[in-house]
Amino acid sequence: MAAADTDLRVFEDLHTLSAAAAQAFVETAREAVEERGRFVVALAGGETPKELYRVLANEHADDLPWQHVHWFWSDERFVGPDDPESNVGMARECLGPLALPERCWHPPDTSLPSPEETAERYERELPPFLPMDVVLLGLGEDGHIASLFPGSPALEEKERLVVAVRDAPKPPPLRITMTLPAIHRSRAVHFLVSGSRKRDALTRTLRVEAPPLPASRIQPAGGRVTWWVDRSATP
Ligand code: 6PG
Repeated sequence: MAAADTDLRVFEDLHTLSAAAAQAFVETAREAVEERGRFVVALAGGETPKELYRVLANEHADDLPWQHVHWFWSDERFVGPDDPESNVGMARECLGPLALPERCWHPPDTSLPSPEETAERYERELPPFLPMDVVLLGLGEDGHIASLFPGSPALEEKERLVVAVRDAPKPPPLRITMTLPAIHRSRAVHFLVSGSRKRDALTRTLRVEAPPLPASRIQPAGGRVTWWVDRSATP
């Protein structure tokens, strides 16, 4: 069984999942801004979170002082922001209608010569924003999270907050990723999982196998892990 502090929320489909996750995002962000003057979030990449980001921008534009939200990424492919593979480009496009000031965005600088240099610079930018309020994560079909893949050295990193990945099994191979220590420097982690392709990974993650899949190893300091899943992804 999953850890006691795991909250599994099942929705009919990605649309209803995204709407509910967006509402929770806004409520959490509003509380953070009232209590601490800002809300720090690390965004997930890939396809699943796109609808959530669009719902935030198009249906919640007036629900939050968005200028107090600071946007990081839990991982990024080592490509330019205009590349169709860019997680930064995807999120900034989906969230574009919010017309946020540049100071809110904290993308990894993939214009540097190597993913190692990008990771080192990103790692220096993160500490003033820790603990993050929320880390959003997707779930890979192999149970990976961000760019932390089963069996990878990056998954076992105990000190660094951001590292380079050169052999990601999910293309493109060159990436930078927050590590477990970084992801755990958060008040809450929210997983977004949709589609029958993810059913096996979700089942194995919640069952907590030996050795555990990367997604099973998530334990944020704040203790809360919430799974936003649709019916097709559930066992
Ligand atoms: C990436 C993501 C990755 C993603 C999962 C799920 O850069 O590819 O960070 O970890 O979240 O692979 O991807 P989908 O949502 O596209 O299924």
